[in-house]
Amino acid sequence: MTTKDNLIENAKTVLNSNFDEDKGFTIPCEGLYPFQWNWDSGFIAIGFAHYDTDKAKREIEALLSAQWENGFIPHIIFHNDSDTYFPGPDFHLSKLHPLASKSHRTTGMTQPPVLGFVLKELYEIVEDKTDILNFIKANIDKVYHNHEHFYTHRDPNQEGLAFIYHNWESGTDNSPIWDDIWDTMNPPNYKFERRDTTHVDASQRPTNREYDYYLHLIEIAKEHHYDDAKIAELSPFLVQDPLFNAMLIKSNAALIALYEIIGDAADKISQLKQWQTKAIARFNEKLFNEKLGAYVHYDLRNEKQIEHISSSSFSPLFADIPDEARANTLVETMKTKFGSENRYLCASFDPDSDRFNPKKYWRGPVWINLNWLLYKGLKSYGFYDLSNRVKDDSITLIEKYGFYEYFDSRKEVTENAGYGGNNFSWSAALLIDFLKS
Ligand code: GLC
Repeated sequence: MTTKDNLIENAKTVLNSNFDEDKGFTIPCEGLYPFQWNWDSGFIAIGFAHYDTDKAKREIEALLSAQWENGFIPHIIFHNDSDTYFPGPDFHLSKLHPLASKSHRTTGMTQPPVLGFVLKELYEIVEDKTDILNFIKANIDKVYHNHEHFYTHRDPNQEGLAFIYHNWESGTDNSPIWDDIWDTMNPPNYKFERRDTTHVDASQRPTNREYDYYLHLIEIAKEHHYDDAKIAELSPFLVQDPLFNAMLIKSNAALIALYEIIGDAADKISQLKQWQTKAIARFNEKLFNEKLGAYVHYDLRNEKQIEHISSSSFSPLFADIPDEARANTLVETMKTKFGSENRYLCASFDPDSDRFNPKKYWRGPVWINLNWLLYKGLKSYGFYDLSNRVKDDSITLIEKYGFYEYFDSRKEVTENAGYGGNNFSWSAALLIDFLKS
């Protein structure tokens, strides 16, 4: 077997052993993340689509089976009991919301909305187009309903940009971006028992004080029964995140394309196009920072941009948001700030910042899912050298260190440069896609 075939076989082994045959979903990683996570499932389904369509479908179905009556899709589905994770279902108490899933315990927050573009990826990957189109037909309206929920309940100014109210909704949990918001809060010191640090070295995970902020935001949302309007009014964390909104915009485009293939959905297509036009225009007006030459997060509570560059800053390339000139600016910023020869692409946070930490979760390490989005985005704009570098770096890191959750971007670190959980599902799933595309 070639190295490539070997890697693919190893990736399949990781995915297959993280798949729960009985319940039909894949855990991100044993011990550390023992339930179903929303955007993980999307990336995982893309990996399965290359060799086991049935598992890809079951993954998506398991996630959608926990969709709330208002269209909301939660960030964690607690399909099973496990005491290796905190905070679990009894802390989140999603049933406080009147329209929460009756069949599943979940969290009351969401994650970047990847499902729309994942359905389109499945359509492109799976060979039996009739079969996969039937699956898409059976599920696409649920994803549309989810988008409708964002534009109706997560956009108080009706400007086409959805807010997130918790750092865990961003997917980039402890990014230094949020430090600016933590500075505006003073939560109590909660008494709780961390479980993540029994699986992973504490130097690679968020601090206890950071967990106080995370829990406090959930307590506020719970006090208001996870009501979006109340959260918009009262949560100290209210952010328009470029990664989250780029995922939504990319998914809008995918839904339009899929409905056009399916036919008979003129009203939905027209609504999606309206959301899309408004969203892209506002995104470019509000989330670009000329001085930094990159997209940034917007703090809606305190009405200002958060002026830091992270890998999320480049994700709009994946959703065709910047025009050519702006795409060139982004690429220059990526090359000069993140792309020196002694680094793997793409660090999750600005390596020149004093908040950069090459080992700590979203404060610096390279993540394979962000690399996959950047690879696709750069390629679609014709930046082939850079897109290939992102792809090759991703493969090299996995080949050298294993299917880790995140990796050190410094090339001088040549041993044990894979951090967080091992046998991590989306690293395996997206490696398969990298090697097959
Ligand atoms: C971490 C990541 C998040 C991911 C989850 C499960 O919380 O920050 O993006 O979804 O792990 O893998």
